[in-house]
Amino acid sequence: MKITLDHVDVVEVGPRDGLQNEKVTIPTEAKIDYITALADAGLRTIEAGAFVSPKWVPQMADTAEVYRNIPKDPGVDYPVLVPNLKGLERASDAGVTSIAIFTAASETFNKRNINMSIDESFEKYAPVVQRARGEGMRVRGYVSTAFGCPYEGDVAPEKVLEVCARLLDLGCYEVSVGDTIGVGTPVQVQSVTGILLQVIPPSKLAMHFHDTRGTALANTLAALEMGIATFDASSGGLGGCPYAPGASGNMATEDLVYMLEKMGIDTAVDLKLLVAASQIIAPYLDHPLPGRYLQSCTKAGAPVAPASTTVH
Ligand code: HMG
Ligand code: MG
Repeated sequence: MKITLDHVDVVEVGPRDGLQNEKVTIPTEAKIDYITALADAGLRTIEAGAFVSPKWVPQMADTAEVYRNIPKDPGVDYPVLVPNLKGLERASDAGVTSIAIFTAASETFNKRNINMSIDESFEKYAPVVQRARGEGMRVRGYVSTAFGCPYEGDVAPEKVLEVCARLLDLGCYEVSVGDTIGVGTPVQVQSVTGILLQVIPPSKLAMHFHDTRGTALANTLAALEMGIATFDASSGGLGGCPYAPGASGNMATEDLVYMLEKMGIDTAVDLKLLVAASQIIAPYLDHPLPGRYLQSCTKAGAPVAPASTTVH
């Protein structure tokens, strides 16, 4: 194995990608405590929510209240998803300084997720990015279904490259390449990444692996070998997209951090405090968190925090 990196940036998406798919309503205070604990664990980028339509994703309806009440750590970036100008206005009102726009490499998924074709999404996002950047915001981009679509099946790597390049041209500082339904394999990851790297430098790419079929860590190793140094993950393995049938959680942040740190790759994340953050949100869910490292702690008798939250 040839990995030359000694540091990896972890983008924590649990409070957004994780919580957006939960059936039970999570109290706003619990989300605030969860995000605060994630920052205390050393995570430097924490996706705090989404200014999407509350009719489409009710779990993210309280993002403004969550965002306003997070005790902001000056060293932490708290991006939020924004699908249109209305979302940007809501983000701006809440004092957001960093947003993420999201489109896909397959038409049917994009239509189901944001009710737009890929081209329409770029038309909608152009003024969003222009205004956001004008207000001094950082803009990240997402490409969903980069390794397979729940409706169309295989996705051409050339299409993934085209959408990534368009997001960067629009002004995104980085594109997160999403395995939305967790179908990718290491060989496929290296083949798609190889095509992307012919045009895009690795510093502008992140990988966003859902762990639906248990391949996320293997895919991470494959991407690390290609020089990718930014990975999205959700604490405890929370997650899934409500508009991707069968999509389950993201790669668990604990599993990623454990593997990397043991390989001598620094993440600046404190694993013990990360487990504590997952244990803050776990009691509010109607199912156990799937992350393997977290489960090993719980099995070993580590205390599970009670479902108490502070009032903000
Ligand atoms: P639409 O129905 O076509 O939009 O939805 P519309 O413009 O016709 O508006 C419909 C209603 O929504 C109107 O309200 C608007 O005001 C309101 P009404 O008049 O009916 O009362 N509305 C909004 N309200 C609040 N905030 C807004 C907003 N926009 C419109 N921003 C839309 C289009 C894009 C809004 C909708 O499809 C949407 O919100 N989709 C988001 C879906 C989503 O959040 N999916 C999950 C995140 S993506 C993901 O998980 C993948 C990722 O993790 C990467 C990976 O894994 O691949 C990122
Ligand atoms: Mg996702």
